[in-house]
Amino acid sequence: METSEIRRRFLQYFEDRGHTVVPSAPLPSPDPNLLFNVAGMAQFVPYFVGQQTPPYPRATSVQKCVRTLDIEEVGKTTRHGTFFQMNGNFSFGDYFKEDAVKFAWELVTKPQNEGGYGFDESVLYASVYYEDDEAIDIWKRVAGLPDDRIVRLGMKDNFWSMGIPGPCGPCSEILIDRGPEFGADRDWEAGDRYLEFWNLVFMQNIRGEGGGKDGYPILGELPKKNIDTGLGLERVAYLLQGVDNMYEIDEIYPVIEKATELTGRKYGAEHEDDVRFRVVADHVRSALMLIGDGVTPGNEQGGYVLRRLLRRAIRSMRLLGYEDPSLVELLPVSLEQMKKSYPELVTDFGRISQVAYAEEEAFRRTLTAGTTIFDVAVRDTKASGAHQLEGAKAFQLHDTYGFPIDLTIEMAAEQGLNVDTEGFRSLMKEQRERAKADARAKKAGHADTSGYRELREKGVTEFTGYQELSSDSQVRGLLREGAVAPFAEQGETVEVVLEKTPFYAESGGQIADEGLILGDGLKLKVLDVQRPVKGLIVHKVEVVEGVLRAGDDVHAAVDHEWRVSACQAHSGTHVVHAALRQVLGPNALQSGSYNKPGYLRLDFAWSSALDPATRSEIEEVANLAVRKDLPVSAQYMTLPEARDWGALALFGETYDEQVRVVEIGGPWSRELCGGTHVKHSSQVGALTVTGESSVGAGVRRIEAFVGMEALHYLGRERALVRLLSENLKARPEELPAKVADLAERLRVAEKELERMRAAQVLEAAAELAKDPKDVFGVQYVGHRAPDGVNGGDLRKLALDVRGRMPSDKPAVVAVLSVNDGKPGVVIALNDLAREWRLKAGDLVRIAAEKLGGRGGGKDDVAQGGGTDAAGADDALSAVEHAIGHQVTG
Ligand code: ALA
Repeated sequence: METSEIRRRFLQYFEDRGHTVVPSAPLPSPDPNLLFNVAGMAQFVPYFVGQQTPPYPRATSVQKCVRTLDIEEVGKTTRHGTFFQMNGNFSFGDYFKEDAVKFAWELVTKPQNEGGYGFDESVLYASVYYEDDEAIDIWKRVAGLPDDRIVRLGMKDNFWSMGIPGPCGPCSEILIDRGPEFGADRDWEAGDRYLEFWNLVFMQNIRGEGGGKDGYPILGELPKKNIDTGLGLERVAYLLQGVDNMYEIDEIYPVIEKATELTGRKYGAEHEDDVRFRVVADHVRSALMLIGDGVTPGNEQGGYVLRRLLRRAIRSMRLLGYEDPSLVELLPVSLEQMKKSYPELVTDFGRISQVAYAEEEAFRRTLTAGTTIFDVAVRDTKASGAHQLEGAKAFQLHDTYGFPIDLTIEMAAEQGLNVDTEGFRSLMKEQRERAKADARAKKAGHADTSGYRELREKGVTEFTGYQELSSDSQVRGLLREGAVAPFAEQGETVEVVLEKTPFYAESGGQIADEGLILGDGLKLKVLDVQRPVKGLIVHKVEVVEGVLRAGDDVHAAVDHEWRVSACQAHSGTHVVHAALRQVLGPNALQSGSYNKPGYLRLDFAWSSALDPATRSEIEEVANLAVRKDLPVSAQYMTLPEARDWGALALFGETYDEQVRVVEIGGPWSRELCGGTHVKHSSQVGALTVTGESSVGAGVRRIEAFVGMEALHYLGRERALVRLLSENLKARPEELPAKVADLAERLRVAEKELERMRAAQVLEAAAELAKDPKDVFGVQYVGHRAPDGVNGGDLRKLALDVRGRMPSDKPAVVAVLSVNDGKPGVVIALNDLAREWRLKAGDLVRIAAEKLGGRGGGKDDVAQGGGTDAAGADDALSAVEHAIGHQVTG
């Protein structure tokens, strides 16, 4: 049975039993303590904990999940995948244990021709939380399981939570016995023989902070008893498709097949290769899904996970012997499989592939850059007589150049070196510990949300700011350092919640409104406005005058100028977005934005820099739209309606049932947006693009000034031109030619200067050649040239002097100069000197030692240098001394 069919049957089965089918939430987790969603219940947490009233009593979904704790295990075991799908059915205070078991058992055992999965009952087991007698009774009654096929397990196995504070509960799992070839009788721990594939969580508790699967306190009961289940879609797929592991199911295996084709190696021949093939297939699929949900490669958080997945996949292909760009071959294969369940990937593939291919390009460049550093490290190691590359070098390669350690080890081995992996690991560990400490510090800064929830329970805050800029309202409550407080006095900074407010809370890229909240003898200055929990608008205020009390009547007034400029900037963002897509094409989709009065910036999917002509065209299209005075309007509709209408949504955002669509000139620009806007496009005013840059693989950023700020910006540019024009004594239109002319003349002058300097240095050659010192029969010229002679000129000088000296006597020429504070030395010998067993390379090494550096070269000419200019004279006498030593010794 195809994976997409297993998925379809699941949703159908539960829809037929009164469950609302809810789409998967995007992969990035809404909880700041988790990078990605790790279970189907993530999007329902507010319903379980009673923070929000669920719009339906029962739901079902197939949630996209990514778990990366076990990334190193991928491919080595049969069931560790980074991306996976979890089918779930949920009850919010509706049915409980008995129905949960009944549903699961029926779907699992019902024959396939009747819409079920058709598992053979005789190999199925159930595990229960050890003290859950009620569950045992239900498994016996409802499923008819005998005692010996029900197993009591402890908290580690049968108590489930997200790994962070939140809802949790005892659980019960369905296990399948895959037979003795997979492990010992009744060994529940190992996991391969008795494979669990459906977890039924009786979600009834709330947990606190703590480590591991059993090291946390249970804080209490949830308001209601709920059900949360998770059926591992990939697990069921490999059980029903008769393959050994998740990498061989229909959604993944074709990528392995393609990889064998590209590399010419076989799957199933060598364990090491197999692991690599699986890593490739798993990671390519995960990357496809992550980028699809708006994640882009980066150096932090989720972006780093994606980067690591892509790099591991690319690297594994190289280890399998394939050196060409591989994603362009593999990603489309993964798409072919995944589109059956996720058709939106097809429309998004332009953007997705652009991001992925750009990252591969960048990684290939990294490999090239790192290889040079690697070569230097190898040379240094060999020169020092060692056989081991230092751990610090391997760490630098890893940390700075993104060079994976296995690559360093392999390449070192080719050079006959091994790597101090222990040193490397201890440096990695130090770094990890630093990162952990940082993360802990960050977490401690996280406000506890219980105070917000307490105020939220009194109702949602009405936002009046779409219609008016000031509203009469009442103080619902205030918070001091996160805790609800009765009053606040002059001088304090606290958070205030009003019954209704015209203040816009920062969101969708638009920053918060500024303004005042006034009452009887009371004046509050609004410093920030946020929505820490859904439905609650919180103003951070400074009490400028009076005493603030819960229940006070107040008048909340947004700064008019501020709001007008904020609207200009936000509408301007939509205008620029539409202009970008008009000029560059529909792939140039916004991935993030930020706007504040007078300024906007927008990040969009695009992989190359925009040339000046394109930038001007975008600016032109945007300003024409402003000039046309297009009407701006907002309306509410359902998400599918909005999509049908062509409204643009952001990847990775979760939207409510009803969404707000902002239009500028009808279809000219339609975006899902909760922000505040001007009424007509002309109110945006002037719009001037000030910059365009890269902010990561496949993502560009465009910045602009709007309204008065745009004029100020142009004014500053004009002043600059005037200044240049005065200083250079040229009319503005002559400036470019003037500057180009100046630059050219400067270049010619510098060249001439260089030529003269070299000539001057070389002029000394004749004099020097005439006056060598006799060192035990060797004609020695040891000369310190003026400062500033570069290596090339020094070499010319040394060779010139040597050429002018008689060849019937052994001759050694050493010339030295300090250039930019760094001493350099060149030594040249004639043939006779070499017959006397003198070597330029040896002499240079001796000189360089005095200069605090190193050097080397051939026997006749050698070059070196160092960092210690004070050793210059010593260096020349050390050479003289060494000549004497060699000749007499
Ligand atoms: N939330 C449960 C799990 O992930 C079903 O196993």
